[in-house]
Amino acid sequence: MYSTYRAAPDIDAITTAIPIPGLGHLPVNSFVLHGAEPALVDTCPIVMRDEYLATLATVIDPADLRWLWLTHTDPDHIGAVAALLDANPQLRVITTFFGVGIMGLQAPLPMDRVNFVNPGETITLGDRTLTGVKPPAFDNPITVGFHDSKANALFTSDCFGALFTDEPPESADAAGADMQDGQVLWGTIDSAWLHKVDTDVFAGDLDRIRRIEPDHVLSAHLPAASGAMLPQLLDTLARVPAAEAFPAPDQAALDAMLAQMAQAAPA
Ligand SMILES: [Fe+2]
Ligand SMILES: [Fe+2]
Repeated sequence: MYSTYRAAPDIDAITTAIPIPGLGHLPVNSFVLHGAEPALVDTCPIVMRDEYLATLATVIDPADLRWLWLTHTDPDHIGAVAALLDANPQLRVITTFFGVGIMGLQAPLPMDRVNFVNPGETITLGDRTLTGVKPPAFDNPITVGFHDSKANALFTSDCFGALFTDEPPESADAAGADMQDGQVLWGTIDSAWLHKVDTDVFAGDLDRIRRIEPDHVLSAHLPAASGAMLPQLLDTLARVPAAEAFPAPDQAALDAMLAQMAQAAPA
């Protein structure tokens, strides 16, 4: 089930939560930046495309979109890219050289409708300037988030995601203390490579993000957070390298899940 909410001035979130057996609920967000040149940030899981497109249309006429910022090419972000490009000839995709390459393996992007923005580079979309930012954690090396000058919002892609025991709240600020454990768990799953990092180097990278001082932190997998939450989000992420590695469910766990599902199924 998709729903929407106002994540920041001029920015709507389109959100759903995917239940993951034994782990909780994972928010999956995309964002609409309203303005002189409206932009969409990521789309949806491929299997949820039709419902996503119907929900998107409740916050903006998709024909009015001018830009689609693709933070990376994972299946939970690209499900509606081809449909949106087909329906709207003025829509352009902001991505990178390797973003185009990976999309070429599944839903090729028209090269004359692509803009490259790498970390540190900027693009002006009418009344706002977006600056590419490499998030400190990611699950796909091509990931590029950004800072939006108009809302002073930091878009972090998969970074700062969290698994929630129950349905996620609409705002990370309203979440309970268990969100921090859910964020660490997500970090060990989505960015397991963090267990191998030099923690001093990682701390320096977290400071790079801290110095941005955004008013809003908008992650693909966390309810919208205020800038006041950023220190907590960074401190929680700093726990991931030393956290217990995620123990992947084994065959016995799968057998138990299947037995549970068979029991729950109507006769
Ligand atoms: Fe991802
Ligand atoms: Fe994701």
